[in-house]
Amino acid sequence: MTVTAVVGVQYGDEGKGRVVDYLAHTSRMVIRFQGGDNAGHTIVNQFGTFRLHLVPSGIFHPGTACVIGTGTVINPDTLLTELSELSAAGVSLDSLCISDRAHLVMPYHKLLDGLEESSRGAQKIGTTKRGIGPAYQDKAARSGLRAGDLHHLDYLRTRLEQNAPRINQTLEYYGEPAVHVDELFEICRGWADKLGSRIIDTLPMVRSAVERGETILLEGQLGVMKDVDWGTYPFVTSSHPLAAYGSIGAGIPFQKITRVIGVCKAYATTVGAGPFPAELQDEIGTRIREIGREYGATTGRPRRCGWLDALVVRHAAWINGLTDLAITKLDVLDGFPEIKMCVAYRDKTGGRIETIPDPIAMETVEPIYETFTGWRSKTVGIRRWSDLPSEARVFLERLEKLADVPIRYVSVGPERDAMIDRS
Ligand code: GDP
Ligand code: IMO
Ligand code: MG
Repeated sequence: MTVTAVVGVQYGDEGKGRVVDYLAHTSRMVIRFQGGDNAGHTIVNQFGTFRLHLVPSGIFHPGTACVIGTGTVINPDTLLTELSELSAAGVSLDSLCISDRAHLVMPYHKLLDGLEESSRGAQKIGTTKRGIGPAYQDKAARSGLRAGDLHHLDYLRTRLEQNAPRINQTLEYYGEPAVHVDELFEICRGWADKLGSRIIDTLPMVRSAVERGETILLEGQLGVMKDVDWGTYPFVTSSHPLAAYGSIGAGIPFQKITRVIGVCKAYATTVGAGPFPAELQDEIGTRIREIGREYGATTGRPRRCGWLDALVVRHAAWINGLTDLAITKLDVLDGFPEIKMCVAYRDKTGGRIETIPDPIAMETVEPIYETFTGWRSKTVGIRRWSDLPSEARVFLERLEKLADVPIRYVSVGPERDAMIDRS
C-alpha cells in the first residue's frame, strides 16, 4: 500500500505511459500531476495503441480512478478529442475527474507560444507550441483561468475582461489581431457544458484514498532534464517533472510518497533544443531512431538520439529520491555489436566531471564513454532477469551501480506484458 511517483529520468519520452499502464492494474488511483498536452504517453494494450496527452495512463483499468491533477494545465479541446477517441475504442471514462484548481490553456496561450518561439530566432527552445509556457506564466502571474471557473461563468467573464487588454497589448506587439471576450466566453461556455460534470474538488477523494492506504500512482510528464529548475534552462518546460512536485500537483503530503520509480530508456533521446552531450549525430543515432521509432508522440518531430547518459540518471536519482528504476526499450539495442554508456564528461580544460554542469558549460563538454559488448540476440520475449543475455545484465548492472538505484523493471517491448518484473 503505497503512494508511488512515476517520473522521467532523462529528457522525456522514456516510456512513462507504458510503465504506468503496466502498474495501474494494482492501483486504485492514478493522478497526472503536472504538464499539459505537451505530453505524449504511448500505450499499447488490448484496446489498441493510444497517445495520451492529458488523460492519466491508468484509464484502461476499470477499477482505477483517474485524476487530472491540480498541477496540470488543461487544453479542454485536446482533452475532449482524447475522450472521444478513448470512448470510441470502448474505454470507460466513468472514473475520470479533473481538479477544479488545474489551469486552463486558452487559445491565446497556444498562439503566444508560437509567437514567442518565432521571436526567439536562433535561440528557439523547440517547444511543442501547445501553450504550456504561457499558461504557466499566467498561473504564476495570477491571471490564469482555472477549470473550476467553468462552474462560475459570471466570474469567468470578469476574469476574461480583466485579462483581455493585457493579452491584446501583447498580440498587438506581435502584429496579431486582438482576441474578443465574447468569443472566448462562448468557447468556455462550450467547455463547461461538455466537461463541467468532471470538474470537482479532487482533494477529498485523494485524501481519503491516501488515508485508507490505497495504492496510488502519481504520473509525471517529461523528465528531469526539462525541469524548469534542474534541467537545461532555458531549454526546459515551465513546470516540475519531479517526484517532489507530485506532492503539490496531486495534493498529497510529501512524506506519503514512499516509492519513486524513475523511467529510463536504455539509450537517450530528446526533442527540442538544448545541450545533449551524449548525442549521436551519425549512423548509429539514425539506426537507434529508426529501430526505436523515435519520433515525437505529440509533434511527430524526429527525436535526437544518443547513448545512455549515466550522469543524467544519477542526477535524476538524487533530485527525485528514486527508489527504483524501470528501464525501457532494451530490445531496441538488440543486435548492436557495441553499446556505450556516458559515465563522465570532459570539460573545456580537459578535466573530468561527474556531476551535471550548468547548461552553458554543458553545451561544451565531451562525453566520456564506457564501451560494452552487445548481446546480438532478441530480448523481446524474455520475462525473467536471469534469462537476459549476460552482456545485457552487465550493461544494466553498471547503470544500477552508477545511479545507485536498483533496477526493478525492464521493458522489452511496447506491449503491456513485455516486462521483466523483479519487484
Ligand atoms: P512517455 O512520454 O514517457 O510516456 O514515452 P513516449 O510514449 O513518448 O515514448 C516511448 C515510446 O517507446 C512509445 O512509442 C512506446 O510505445 C515505446 N516503448 C515503450 N517501452 C518500450 C519497449 O520496451 N520497447 C519498445 N520497442 N518500445 C517501447
Ligand atoms: P512526455 O511527457 C519530450 C519538450 C519540448 C521542448 C521543451 C519545452 O511525453 O515525455 P513545452 O511545450 O513544454 O514548453 O516545451 O520540452 N517537451 C517534451 N519532450 N516529451 C514530452 O512529454 C515533452 N513535453 C515538452 O520539445 O524542448
Ligand atoms: Mg512522450
